[in-house]
Amino acid sequence: MRPTPIKKDRGGRLYEVEGITMKAIVSTGYGPPEVLQLQEVEKPKVKDNEVSVKIVVTTVTRADGMMRTGKPYFARLFLGFTKPRNSIPGGGFAGRVDAVGREVTQFKVGDKVFGETAMAVGANAEYVAVPADGLIEKTPEAMTDEQAAAMCDGPVTAMNFLKELAKIQPGQSVLINGASGSVGSAAVQLAKHFGASVTGVCSAANVDLVKSLGAERVIDYGQEDFTASVRNYDIIFDTVGTSSFSRCKGALKKGGVFISPVLGIPLLFQMLWTLVIGDKKAKFSATGLLPVPKRRVLLNGLVPLFEAGTMKTLIDRRYPLGEVPEAHRYVDRGRKKGNVIITMEAADNAAN
Ligand SMILES: NC(=O)c1ccc[n+]([C@@H]2O[C@H](COP(=O)([O-])OP(=O)(O)OC[C@H]3O[C@@H](n4cnc5c(N)ncnc54)[C@H](OP(=O)(O)O)[C@@H]3O)[C@@H](O)[C@H]2O)c1
Repeated sequence: MRPTPIKKDRGGRLYEVEGITMKAIVSTGYGPPEVLQLQEVEKPKVKDNEVSVKIVVTTVTRADGMMRTGKPYFARLFLGFTKPRNSIPGGGFAGRVDAVGREVTQFKVGDKVFGETAMAVGANAEYVAVPADGLIEKTPEAMTDEQAAAMCDGPVTAMNFLKELAKIQPGQSVLINGASGSVGSAAVQLAKHFGASVTGVCSAANVDLVKSLGAERVIDYGQEDFTASVRNYDIIFDTVGTSSFSRCKGALKKGGVFISPVLGIPLLFQMLWTLVIGDKKAKFSATGLLPVPKRRVLLNGLVPLFEAGTMKTLIDRRYPLGEVPEAHRYVDRGRKKGNVIITMEAADNAAN
């Protein structure tokens, strides 16, 4: 096919003669970070019920790594068999509305917004088009784009697990394993906010960081095995899946709950088993697959905490769009502290 000629407008932006183009990361297949390439592609056309967002900040998360590799393989049932059905990766975004569809009344051009595209991905790009009734919200004045873009990963997941699954209560004793990660760092702050006594687990290098998030006690997993303690915790939140319900059972108090966002076959069976047998429960949820209204409730419960400064987003590293493969390499190591973000235009961000 003959390539569409490209022109430049007065601001230097590239336009196709037949359609506007944008820079985006494109997945050329399943595999290592090299499958991700910066390309000039057609800007998504905004449908009648959609909002087009000019992205200021987007994210690279552990879920993005899973979607890039297409592993576990059963995920390809949803993602596409031989290569990702949606070729532009990235879920979290914050930016400005640059166009709205004819049916959209909730947003107008120029609104500062944030949200998550979930399985539709597409946010590692200059623009993304999202349904106006999807997970997209106006960004509160007190929140920066960096904070907002990372909200829908760790914080929303932590809220879902602690509040909805574990029904956290003031005065409970809560252990967070992987306390320096995206989910873990949000979970420590949230559990503290809910009035729990929080123990964080991380490596020696992150002990001070986890203390600064509000953990009363921090266990260096190189020195101590938290699963060896006896009837200590009402909730064990293994955010990184390095333990298991079987190993943690003895450390849970009577009626205690083990929650983990990392699903494996054993956890699946333990969940089903403990639904009917035993007073200690194992629970899992796929937060990104919850219906939008449920995720919006979780998000709306968090926004005031960020506005008030009760919670903060940990940003570990920032990369430009062209370095998304490098960001994936870093996230794949499983050692990030909080979140990794992609910043589109440093100038836009500084202006916030
Ligand atoms: N089900 C859901 O709804 C859902 C939603 C979001 C994420 N997830 C999943 O949840 C998992 C965690 O995501 P995340 O973004 O929070 O991960 P992450 O940010 O990559 O976690 C990194 C952290 O894990 C810590 N860590 C590494 N090995 C550890 C160990 N043996 N013991 C304790 N901590 C250890 C590291 O701390 P040190 O450097 O100190 O070791 C690092 O700070 C991922 O598998 C992700 O796919 C699921």
